[in-house]
Amino acid sequence: MSTVSGSAEKVAVIVPAAGKGERLGPGAPKALRALGGSPLLVHAVRTLAAAPSVGLVMVAAPPDAAGVAEVQRLLADLPGDTRVVAGGASRQESVALALAALPAQYSMVLVHDAARALTPVDLVEAVAGAVRAGAPAVIPVLPVADTIKAVAGDLVTATVDRSSLRAVQTPQGFTRDLLAKAHAAADPHAPATDDAGLVEALGLPVRTVPGHAEAFKITTPFDLVLAEAVLRRRR
Ligand code: CTP
Ligand code: MG
Repeated sequence: MSTVSGSAEKVAVIVPAAGKGERLGPGAPKALRALGGSPLLVHAVRTLAAAPSVGLVMVAAPPDAAGVAEVQRLLADLPGDTRVVAGGASRQESVALALAALPAQYSMVLVHDAARALTPVDLVEAVAGAVRAGAPAVIPVLPVADTIKAVAGDLVTATVDRSSLRAVQTPQGFTRDLLAKAHAAADPHAPATDDAGLVEALGLPVRTVPGHAEAFKITTPFDLVLAEAVLRRRR
């Protein structure tokens, strides 16, 4: 295993950023929308580039020529080794395309949503550290605060026991071999919403670490308001 002299082996981070942001409403692709004056993607990549464990950030950009060019332009101003590939029609496809473009030297990979723009660097380090410590698949999770019920139409069919449920975040961390194997076995017609799901589908274990409230995914206009408030408090 290659190591950087005097320090731990670095990880590559894949950043799926090719989504349209339909739930955010009409406008540019979500990763390119502004939060506190900078695109969501820039917030996310800045944090990743500042994480001591991270050696490379590979962004899956909105697949049209304008999207790729815009992401290239944004990354040129950021520190660290950052690269761009055109993303795909699903998140799963975007991750697979970025994974295929990773240099051979990286044996550990994180996958981190551009939409989780305010994720703290400590969470990135915790996930990378758990993979480095020997866990082949690691995800950050939080307990579920709301009562959860199953429904059929507008009728409740069951109240689900919340105590064993967790809400899942990114970055998710993997050995590169396992992530590649999981994506190779994935069904492109029924794409998974996270990468750990593909590992579970292989029947292999996924380890959890504590997530962070500020790693929430910006999905709706309300989430953007929340993110602006988090950013103001930080500044
Ligand atoms: N993503 C991607 N490629 C896709 C779809 C999604 O890289 N074809 C990325 C998004 O850019 C985002 C992450 O996956 O960073 C999580 O997806 P989501 O929150 O669903 O973002 P969007 O797909 O952009 O939003 P929406 O589903 O509301 O359109
Ligand atoms: Mg989506």
